[in-house]
Amino acid sequence: MDIISNEVQDTEIYNRVDDLKAFDETKLGVKGLVDQGVTKVPRIFIRPHDELVKELNYTTVDLKIPVIDLSGVEQDHDRRMEIVEQIREASKTWGFFQVVNHEISSSLLDETIDSIRMFHEQDNETKMKYYSRDPMNMVRYDSNIDLYRSRTANWRDTLMIMMAYSEVPPEQIPAVCRETILKYIKHATTLCGTLLDLLSEALNLNRNYLQEMECSRGRSLVCHYYPPCPEPELTLGTGNHTDTSFITLLLQDHLGGLQVRYCDQWVDVPPITGSIVVNIGDMLQIVSNDRFKSADHRVLASHKGPRVSIACFFTGVIDPPKMYGPIKDGSPPAYRDFTMADYLNTFFSRPVDKSGVVDYFRS
Ligand code: OGA
Ligand code: NI
Repeated sequence: MDIISNEVQDTEIYNRVDDLKAFDETKLGVKGLVDQGVTKVPRIFIRPHDELVKELNYTTVDLKIPVIDLSGVEQDHDRRMEIVEQIREASKTWGFFQVVNHEISSSLLDETIDSIRMFHEQDNETKMKYYSRDPMNMVRYDSNIDLYRSRTANWRDTLMIMMAYSEVPPEQIPAVCRETILKYIKHATTLCGTLLDLLSEALNLNRNYLQEMECSRGRSLVCHYYPPCPEPELTLGTGNHTDTSFITLLLQDHLGGLQVRYCDQWVDVPPITGSIVVNIGDMLQIVSNDRFKSADHRVLASHKGPRVSIACFFTGVIDPPKMYGPIKDGSPPAYRDFTMADYLNTFFSRPVDKSGVVDYFRS
């Protein structure tokens, strides 16, 4: 409580935009601050007082998100039916699960994490060349994609590789992580296909229903670096949000910090070696007509670090425009149909720090 009253009840007005600009112009992100040896979290990162007070009232609960073993999924029909049932239950209740025995080797997962750490830890001059907020840059690095829109900046830097419209020419991917990233994306896309088949079956649809909707055609690889934080109680690594994707595959290192909202509590998503976290995004909540849940989640800041995580978002088709909406299975549709472009426009034009983009599309 002391920390909160000392640091945050200081209501002095400061020019936040100037501070944001100064931070942005360093092009060195949060890692740059830590390299300089900051011992206090700068104001732009400090969460509002009301949020910090609320945080004190959360209790920790010892619940675990489901871990689903995919072995035998293609070979054994009964096994597949069991897995479909587990995925259905997890997607309805948590909107989150972890998969093991998914056929991406642990060595590739480790190499992918290492190569992202190497990108963020390479010499400043090379890294700064990738710093950009231009959405037309398919490969770019920044700190806080919503830096100028959010209420509070997060303790995190990110390398993004956007393949929503088309493949990225390999030479645009930074050399230090190029080969591993390309290999990882290929395997993650195959795993996404397997999961979309299972999710279709879990919705009692044809196995290829979601793949035929081209749910996985757009992909974005978002590679986070969470430096150690001197005052983790005052900020977050990633603020509370839902993903806009159909599904997201998340690869996290061994440090932990990811939490999912479940029954009004924050529940830790513990790192499991060799596993991949899968979460349902807003688009699949809509297409499933609310049968599956796009859950709120966040990442705590920590004294421990740096933490590395890699999120692969599988999104639908933006161009040419394609209509998306709830499956037509006789039950009343909870949402109207719309294009991905409508969806993204709503996402970017809604009031700051308001979650619940899906609500704009409710019928
Ligand atoms: C995200 C996300 C979690 C993490 O990028 O949307 O939720 O552990 N990341 O970095
Ligand atoms: Ni997320």
